[in-house]
Amino acid sequence: MTDTPFPTPESLAACAVDVLTTADAMEKTAKSRAHAKAWFDARAAGTPMPIGTATPPLRPARPERPELLAPRDVPRRRPGSDAGRKALLHALAHIELNAVDLHWDILARFTATPMPMGFYDDWVKAADEESNHFRLVNACLGTLGSFYGELPAHAGMWRAAEDTAEDLMGRLTVVPMVLEARGLDVTPGMIEIFRKAGLPDAIAALETIYAEEVGHVAYGSKWFHFLCGRHELDPKETFHGLVRTYFHGALKPPFNEEKRAEAGLPPDFYWPLAERDDEV
Ligand SMILES: [Fe+2]
Ligand SMILES: [Fe+2]
Repeated sequence: MTDTPFPTPESLAACAVDVLTTADAMEKTAKSRAHAKAWFDARAAGTPMPIGTATPPLRPARPERPELLAPRDVPRRRPGSDAGRKALLHALAHIELNAVDLHWDILARFTATPMPMGFYDDWVKAADEESNHFRLVNACLGTLGSFYGELPAHAGMWRAAEDTAEDLMGRLTVVPMVLEARGLDVTPGMIEIFRKAGLPDAIAALETIYAEEVGHVAYGSKWFHFLCGRHELDPKETFHGLVRTYFHGALKPPFNEEKRAEAGLPPDFYWPLAERDDEV
């Protein structure tokens, strides 16, 4: 009943490891989409795939290109130029590919913590959407005569995953509730850059990303609050403690308060952690 060219592994954890250990970006994202479809088809048929257990790699397989450099060595380009727009899309493609791995990693890494089925549904859906995001952005690079791998990229992206490899609440805090929430803050400005340049494909890709990322932040907040409830922890205090433990640096305003609210992130979660020169 499936038209996927990839055999479906026997459990969700095995699907995750299959994606994480695939280096080629197009193959990784194709597998990710096929496995997500298999998960939801099985759910709809009333025969859910087992969660299973598997050992995800400490670092996911990645293609030989792009070359990964320390953030300070990644060349900066003016966003108003052709080269700058290409670099911006390239950096975004890298973020999206990293996000594919992050969302599959959370599915495989924490199987010892029993969670409701909705937790797996949410992260499989998010992983599928990230795979689409990568493909959309890579297609935009194509229209600019570029491709993912042409430029160097940021080497530090997986650090949040390594730092929180043993702590599910830490992972939910740093990945969806800090890093993906930051995406909500900066995406409208990126859309504006491509609007000024008259690039409709890039605008459409970013609008899809913007709409779907609200959902990913919301999944993070939902399951973080669920675990706080399970352990009788105060959500705000716990969030602050985990950001200070696992996130390096202050949160950067301006914040997209409207979209953060839509995603279930109240201002008293993030404002106390913000760097601010104006003491109000
Ligand atoms: Fe994304
Ligand atoms: Fe996301």
